[in-house]
Amino acid sequence: MGLKHKILITGGAGFIGSHVVRRFVRNYPDYEIVNLDKLTYAGNLENLKDIAEAPGYRFIKGDIVDLDFLEKLFSENIFTGIIHLAAESHVDRSILDPLNFINTNLLGTANLLHMANEQMKYNPSFSCFYHISTDEVYGSLGKEGLFTEESPYDPRSPYSASKAGSDHLVRAFYHTYGLPVVVSNCSNNYGPNQFPEKLIPLVINNIKNSRELPVYGKGENIRDWLYVEDHAAAIDLIFHEGNKGETYNIGGNNEWKNLDLVKLLCEIMDEKLERAKGESEKLIRFVKDRPGHDLRYAIDASKIESELGWQPGLDFKNALSATVDWYLDNQDWLDHILSGEYESYYEKQYL
Ligand code: NAD
Ligand code: DAU
Repeated sequence: MGLKHKILITGGAGFIGSHVVRRFVRNYPDYEIVNLDKLTYAGNLENLKDIAEAPGYRFIKGDIVDLDFLEKLFSENIFTGIIHLAAESHVDRSILDPLNFINTNLLGTANLLHMANEQMKYNPSFSCFYHISTDEVYGSLGKEGLFTEESPYDPRSPYSASKAGSDHLVRAFYHTYGLPVVVSNCSNNYGPNQFPEKLIPLVINNIKNSRELPVYGKGENIRDWLYVEDHAAAIDLIFHEGNKGETYNIGGNNEWKNLDLVKLLCEIMDEKLERAKGESEKLIRFVKDRPGHDLRYAIDASKIESELGWQPGLDFKNALSATVDWYLDNQDWLDHILSGEYESYYEKQYL
């Protein structure tokens, strides 16, 4: 029998992390999965209520910035791998409060690397420190071109700069100490359980409540959208089969101008809510642009496709329609979030 895996997943109560945790718990019943999450405003155990009691799964509330806490955790557990998703993840919040991003994303990642590196000295079964990163580290594209794994780093927001710094630290631990690391940089995710500060769930929620739809600038910025389950499938593959020291770009090959995407959501919502065609579009408002707003992100995912055989599986319009259904069917989930600090953030950001 092979070695029993005990994997630490950080940020597992967040949007992408919860899909990754569920996938690992369901697909690998012989693994132990430890979900470490601080439960910030973005962390929500409701995302995982269906697997909360699964054998082999354990949730631990804790902060990756707190080194004393991590020392105790690592003294009590021998991990075979770490999948690191915990982060402050919203660009607009990083503009309002940059230090929080530097603390969590840089210092938190450094603490985890240090702990993994210390444990590796007496734990030969440690096989992978997998750092989940973003395409935003590469900066902004013009109208042409794609980000490859060789694109130079050029982060332009406190969020992307803190993620870029954390990527550099991860690679430094590989080169300096031989820590077995792997990094992936992914484009914009969408799907169930995404906090409604991000464009797609914010627009769905606002249309539903007949609230204005804030489009930054002229709505001409372009993002590449990937369904969250496709990202989770890529993470599964990279964790198990990715080559150590390597980076893999992950993308949906699915570029949308913001305004076109918002209009598509309006069309889908008009139909689902049985509103007159064109009703929701009337809610669109062009608002002050995000400072340093990156124009375009687009990914060349040929490396993960050719080396590991991954491809995005879902058709965008179907998956977007299913995503809208999820938010309409899960009003309780939204109500719990909206009753928290969401309104005060919304006021600060938009009103
Ligand atoms: P999220 O904001 O939904 O979730 C982040 C999670 O991390 C939350 O559960 C939060 O409680 C936890 N967390 C925050 N600070 C912590 C700390 N100090 N200690 C422990 N836990 C802490 O984020 P997401 O959108 O799911 O993104 C997850 C990861 O994927 C991030 O690293 C992000 O940079 C990266 N990423 C996101 C996208 C995207 O489109 N959302 C795309 C590419 C990469
Ligand atoms: O590319 C990957 C990144 O995608 C991840 O690393 C980040 O964690 C994730 O938040 C996301 O970053 P973006 O800034 O691209 O996502 P956001 O949903 O905030 O915005 C998408 C686009 O929509 C962006 O061009 C800004 C615009 N926007 C956003 C909001 C919230 C608006 O026009 N209005 C809005 O109200």
